[in-house]
Amino acid sequence: MKNNIIPPDSASLKAIRGMSLSFTADPFLNPQDKCYTLIEDALIVMSEGRILDIGNYAELAPRYPGLTNITRYDDALIIPGLIDCHAHYVQSPMIASCGDTLLEWLERYTFPTESKFRSKDFAAAAARQWFGAVLSQGTTTANVFATTFAESVDAFFEESERYNTRMICGKVLQDRNLPPSLRDASAEESVELAESLMKKWHGRGRQLYAVIPRFAPTSTPRQLELAGRLYGAHVGEGVYLHTHLDEAEGEIEWVKELFPECRTYTDVYRRYGLLGKRSVMAHCCVVEEEEWRMLHDFGCGVAHCPSSNLFLGDGEFRYWEAKQADRPLNVGMATDVGGGTNFSVLRQLGEAYKVAMLQGRNLDAVRSLFLATRGGAETLRLADRIGSLEPGMEADIAVIDLAPDEFTAWRMQFCEDIFQRLFVLTTLGSDRMIRATYVAGERVFNRER
Ligand code: GUN
Ligand code: ZN
Repeated sequence: MKNNIIPPDSASLKAIRGMSLSFTADPFLNPQDKCYTLIEDALIVMSEGRILDIGNYAELAPRYPGLTNITRYDDALIIPGLIDCHAHYVQSPMIASCGDTLLEWLERYTFPTESKFRSKDFAAAAARQWFGAVLSQGTTTANVFATTFAESVDAFFEESERYNTRMICGKVLQDRNLPPSLRDASAEESVELAESLMKKWHGRGRQLYAVIPRFAPTSTPRQLELAGRLYGAHVGEGVYLHTHLDEAEGEIEWVKELFPECRTYTDVYRRYGLLGKRSVMAHCCVVEEEEWRMLHDFGCGVAHCPSSNLFLGDGEFRYWEAKQADRPLNVGMATDVGGGTNFSVLRQLGEAYKVAMLQGRNLDAVRSLFLATRGGAETLRLADRIGSLEPGMEADIAVIDLAPDEFTAWRMQFCEDIFQRLFVLTTLGSDRMIRATYVAGERVFNRER
């Protein structure tokens, strides 16, 4: 039978050209040089929102004779769009608020700010700011907390639809231990609202829904139970469970007081059916061995939030524990804005290095760039669609500027390879590290030199 696949008309295609880097395996668990593909002069051909082809320019270009729409990036590195595995867009209005402890900071700044998201207009303005900020930093997918109100979820997804970004978000479930202005009226009503928002948004275009109990202390056992049931019923359709876990000592003590029947903080989530392969746990700084094993056994992912952990004086994430070879977890990077101090996943890598060094471990650019791209996609169980530059993947791409300013350009000449250059960039932490951002093949951000 004649097949009816029509060869793409090269004239209708577009492409980008430059050095490219994409991971193929986890460098925490495999020899590093077997984990990535680096192409010095790559051509990446895009069609209908996906990567159609990628390869060496000299070999690939002759196969697309009509392809003239090629944007060339010199002194740059093309990577998959960055992935932020944990953020609160609703905290953008209070980022950089001088804190004390996590719990005090939540009471003093976070809860009053999130209360304002009852207003759709307020929420829409914050969503606009947040998307502008993250897209200019090369982030194309994020796993994001809204807050109690449906308006805060709708505003986020509506803005995401405008850009056609692949985003994960959901209503936050929180029915105790927070001000009445933010508290859910009842466990039943809150989970019904979450379910109706899930039906509205999950799988609409590129949007994905998460069930989000804020953390164990702000949910009654009944709310956790209903959240677990909702998650369990829909995890097979790609719905997520997103929460905080083991961030700081004071928080952990509080959880043990509230749930004395549970052996550990992780055990609280297990008891209510909140652990699973689409469960993403933010922080995991102070984790007992039996918790790591439990998280591994349930297939949970972890979001490492270094700038937030430093800013709030929380615990220190131990990647070598999370990646222990006999029970490794998927780990991704996260800004955790507004505990985090900026919107850049690349800048988190500089902070992650320092957090590791405080404990006598380093974190090189091979491993950290993995966490920011494919590692994040694996954490979100989306590695078949995003997080690497391969034919068939969604064309979400960040172009890193390897010469964002005069000094950095000069410093780069003393580097021996691309990973040393990336280390310099993430350590210096320029705000201008991204040249361009593509979402589903469309350029949504561009910075002229
Ligand atoms: N734990 C519970 N809520 C929050 C929050 O909003 N930020 C951080 N960093 N930790 C939390
Ligand atoms: Zn958080």
